[in-house]
Amino acid sequence: MEFQDEFEQILLTEEEINQKVKSLGVQLTEDYRDKNPLLVGVLRGCVTFMADLMREIEVPVELDFLSVASYGQSAFTSGVVRVLKDLSEDVDGRHVILIEDIVDSGLTLNYLINYLNGRNPASIATCVLLDKPYRREVDVKADYVGFEVPDKFLVGYGLDYAQKYRNLPYVATLKDNAIEEE
Ligand code: PRP
Repeated sequence: MEFQDEFEQILLTEEEINQKVKSLGVQLTEDYRDKNPLLVGVLRGCVTFMADLMREIEVPVELDFLSVASYGQSAFTSGVVRVLKDLSEDVDGRHVILIEDIVDSGLTLNYLINYLNGRNPASIATCVLLDKPYRREVDVKADYVGFEVPDKFLVGYGLDYAQKYRNLPYVATLKDNAIEEE
């Protein structure tokens, strides 16, 4: 897909992302030997990252997915999210790795960690490609982080604007004037 007029710049190239995903895979391979981890992707933004990352993990893994949506604005700031698609697997006693494309306020990740903790996993870790730590509204830190990114609207490699651009192989920033206020 060609560079679009509404993009400002390519923030992370395909090569930079591939290198980072490989190194995250090396770390996870070392940390999860003999643990048969369950990778839990948070739809939909996770799909590209998760598909690439799992192929860089050289120990057996299993996969599952969650789909969530935030409630209205007031509930969102309280951190309540609605689970649209629940897990298919039982996480009791499992080593769970939550996979996210991006952490921003941290509300989604924080909610999901608590949600999964209620199901008695052996451990929960979080692995995110992109992090905006200065945007946190709750104190949550990812265990494995690809890149700390600036406070820009990002698209590509799973991230969307109005459901577009998830299929870009790189991460681009959108021009401010391309973003419509909701
Ligand atoms: C994004 C991302 C996280 C969440 C992070 O999902 O995938 O789930 O927002 O934001 P937070 O840290 O402020 O909670 P989004 O709602 O855009 O859905 P998508 O994955 O389907 O694109």
